[in-house]
Amino acid sequence: MKVLLTGGTGYIGSHTAVELLKQGYEVEIMDNLFNSKIEVLDKIESITGVKPKFYKVDLLDKEGMDELFKNGGYELVIHFAGLKAVAESVEKPLKYYENNVGGTINLLECMKKYGVKKLIFSSSATVYGDQDGVKLTEDMQTGVGITNPYGETKHVIEEILKDVAEAEPDFEATILRYFNPVGAHESGLLGEDPNDIPNNLMPIVMKVSTGEIPVLNVYGSDYDTPDGTGMRDYIHVVDLARGHVAAASKMKSGISIYNLGTGEATSVLEMVAAFEKASGEKLPYQFAPRRAGDLAKVFADASKAERELGWKTELTITDAMNDTINYLRKNA
Ligand code: WQD
Repeated sequence: MKVLLTGGTGYIGSHTAVELLKQGYEVEIMDNLFNSKIEVLDKIESITGVKPKFYKVDLLDKEGMDELFKNGGYELVIHFAGLKAVAESVEKPLKYYENNVGGTINLLECMKKYGVKKLIFSSSATVYGDQDGVKLTEDMQTGVGITNPYGETKHVIEEILKDVAEAEPDFEATILRYFNPVGAHESGLLGEDPNDIPNNLMPIVMKVSTGEIPVLNVYGSDYDTPDGTGMRDYIHVVDLARGHVAAASKMKSGISIYNLGTGEATSVLEMVAAFEKASGEKLPYQFAPRRAGDLAKVFADASKAERELGWKTELTITDAMNDTINYLRKNA
């Protein structure tokens, strides 16, 4: 099956390209390289022996997108491309709606014009809003209490896909709601390497460990959690990538929605301790005020993906820390 990965040189996209190639899929990548590097293609080749065909195209470039799909012959699109800096989305909402929502509409129009019927969409646990820290299931309410435009774009796109599926019976869309991706490929060739200023915990921990950032600010120590710090469901990026392969093999008409998480919640201090244990070095941190929009606890019920896709996570937080440190040591 010929698959196009939008945003495929990014953190999750590149790891997914590797897992798809290992399963014999024909993979092509489209990216505007805003938040990734073209050298990732060589890393994918080093790991798999295959260098995916690459097109430097922006989702908003209608002509470029049309040209890509006219010649593509794709059976499935996995849509990773999008802006994802939560804090920046608060400052620049129009940039996020234009790029994420407008870009996805361009993509869907190209798919319709050229008869591409299968889509996997990279969504996010953010769409659940604030559910008081309960284990999240796919049937729970979404779109209420989302605290930032980034999360709103994910929710709006989910609603667009539901409406397109209503209008087009042969459209097959799978929505994958990611929790918190962490870790790196065991080879140390692929990892989280954002061009922009990181928002997420682990890219910041990585920069604190290399000294680029002097100290980790732990946002809030008074949450209603065992150690007072925020808790999230951290999923190894390779498990997450394998979740996409499982989804690709089980596409069906209409909308299918799955949480991709471990089902466990881990606190910031537990993540710091795990990183220190793996690196053998202390990580400098200090408590800071809560970050606007943060929730106390967010974690997945991932049983539906296990039941219907035959997928569940196999890698641990320790694996993620070891792989992150291995990546750092090979790329610092
Ligand atoms: C995790 C925990 C912070 C940084 C967001 C998006 C989600 C997804 C992942 C994009 C929280 C704490 C963080 C720091 C800290 N999308 N933290 N100090 O906010 O759960 O989710 O990123 O990839 O859609 O909403 O992830 O990594 O920013 O924060 O204490 O310097 O780490 O308070 O408890 P989040 P995060």
